[in-house]
Amino acid sequence: MEKENMAVFPSIEGKVAAVTGAGSGIGRATAILLAKNGTALFLMSRDEEKLKETQKTCESYGVKCFYKSTDVTDPNAVKESFAECIKIFGRVDILCNVAGGSTGRKFTFDMTGDEFDEVYKLNLKNVFLCCKEVLPGMKERNYGKIVNVSSLIGRAAGDNTNIAYSSLKAGIDQFSKYLAREVGKYGICVNSVSPGYVEASRRITELWAKTQNMQEIFDRLSIKRPGTAMEVANAIVFLASDEAAYITGEVLDVNGGAVMA
Ligand SMILES: NC(=O)c1ccc[n+]([C@@H]2O[C@H](COP(=O)([O-])OP(=O)(O)OC[C@H]3O[C@@H](n4cnc5c(N)ncnc54)[C@H](OP(=O)(O)O)[C@@H]3O)[C@@H](O)[C@H]2O)c1
Repeated sequence: MEKENMAVFPSIEGKVAAVTGAGSGIGRATAILLAKNGTALFLMSRDEEKLKETQKTCESYGVKCFYKSTDVTDPNAVKESFAECIKIFGRVDILCNVAGGSTGRKFTFDMTGDEFDEVYKLNLKNVFLCCKEVLPGMKERNYGKIVNVSSLIGRAAGDNTNIAYSSLKAGIDQFSKYLAREVGKYGICVNSVSPGYVEASRRITELWAKTQNMQEIFDRLSIKRPGTAMEVANAIVFLASDEAAYITGEVLDVNGGAVMA
């Protein structure tokens, strides 16, 4: 990861960012890129060992970095973690909602309501819960950046996941637009980054190994390879910076030209 192109955004030096899903993949890359740009960090996901690893890398850039193991589907856990973050830093300037994931391929006929609810809690409700914790402070300070991670599969139908993940990721994009409209007058920008196929972590690589047609999928992209976690992080951190000060309610595709609309 360290050899990859890591973008420079001078405006975020000295800011405070909370990142969910920071233990691996795109969330980890986002945290590291924020750290490299001088942003103090509060990291959340469930696996403490992975959080510790991300923390170590972030601290190597000389920034303050704390973490708390947090299940973002649990409203009380979310509340407690943001309370701790605000106790430590006094504020959150940037929120990157990266935690999420697909439960894999399942036909709609076979999916239960409970399974749908699980995907909902992880991929859309968690974004709402985390935003609720930072919005009052951002409004008070008339400053805030929220970046939500959606998915290509929320913009185009596919064969390798399920209706809950697809429709809820689409929901994140509309969530970003609706919230952007509501809070723009308080100096808060809200955007989505919509990744395509990203070789982000071991979990994703293992998932793809079980999928027979991945190479065919890559061959159909305009850029004929999967993306990297840092390529997505570059887009996330751009939208979290003042270099993107006049961009809000936007969905930024990072998908190798899979969908152009
Ligand atoms: N990779 C892709 O091709 C791709 C494409 C489109 C969109 N995305 C989106 O990008 C985001 C990051 O995914 P990734 O590719 O980086 O995969 P990943 O490596 O699996 O990252 C997912 C992160 O979310 C965390 N997480 C999962 N469930 C959680 C929970 N209940 N509470 C708190 N944290 C939780 C995981 O950590 P713990 O398990 O330790 O909690 C992990 O850090 C997701 O929202 C995903 O939907 C990925």
